[in-house]
Amino acid sequence: MQKIKLWDAPVRLFHWSLVGAFAWLWYSGETGSAMDWHMRIGELVLALVIFRIIWGFVGSSNARFADFIRPGGVVAYLKSLFSRDAALHAGHNPLGGLVVLLMLLLLLVQAVTGLFTTDEIFTEGPLYGLVSSDLAGQLSGLHHQNFEILLVVVALHVAAIAFYLVYKRTNLVRPMITGSKPWPDAPAPQIRFANPWFGIGLFVVVYAAVRGVIALLGS
Ligand code: HEM
Repeated sequence: MQKIKLWDAPVRLFHWSLVGAFAWLWYSGETGSAMDWHMRIGELVLALVIFRIIWGFVGSSNARFADFIRPGGVVAYLKSLFSRDAALHAGHNPLGGLVVLLMLLLLLVQAVTGLFTTDEIFTEGPLYGLVSSDLAGQLSGLHHQNFEILLVVVALHVAAIAFYLVYKRTNLVRPMITGSKPWPDAPAPQIRFANPWFGIGLFVVVYAAVRGVIALLGS
């Protein structure tokens, strides 16, 4: 076995920041506690998702949508789903890639609708004032329903990771933490890595733009 570098630092930072933010948003949304922080962290998630979408075009080769959105490969992947052969993907597998895209879209809907959401008592999203109260009501409903869908998809995502660990004996979590993955003595995949500082700088710019646009529109 050799070790190959798999995930770049921006993808890993994106993922674990998203997991922490998601846990906090779930807790604060359900309990209604510290809703000012619910909104701040919601803006962070919006910036994270916009960053990840841009990184899907300009980032490292295995972080790009062109690399992991392969609907044509899903049937062949499903046929080998229960094979215990070591799962060798130098990125997301074809089904996982589609789930990643779905999670990003659901997160985008979640974060954008949150900007207009109201609980009709104490809390209003920062852009609530831009829309009619009818539309705000509909967007608030969507914010709640979409979260239920998001929870189901995230549960499937975590179940798939557990399936890989237990059934396929392939640990996908460690590479998402350390960045590297064991690889058999077969030719290593050719992954082109983007400069991680470019990724981090890009995120800072996206975050500042998200905060700036929301402040401008909400004032
Ligand atoms: C403790 C819970 C979680 C674990 C252990 C976990 C683990 C992982 C792993 C191992 C991957 C890489 C899969 C692969 O090799 O193809 C991944 C990717 C991903 N996960 Fe999770 N995940 C968790 C929670 C979440 C949550 C809560 C979300 C969203 C709200 C999420 C969203 C994503 C996304 C968007 C990707 C794609 C990363 C990228 O390409 O940038 N994950 N996750």
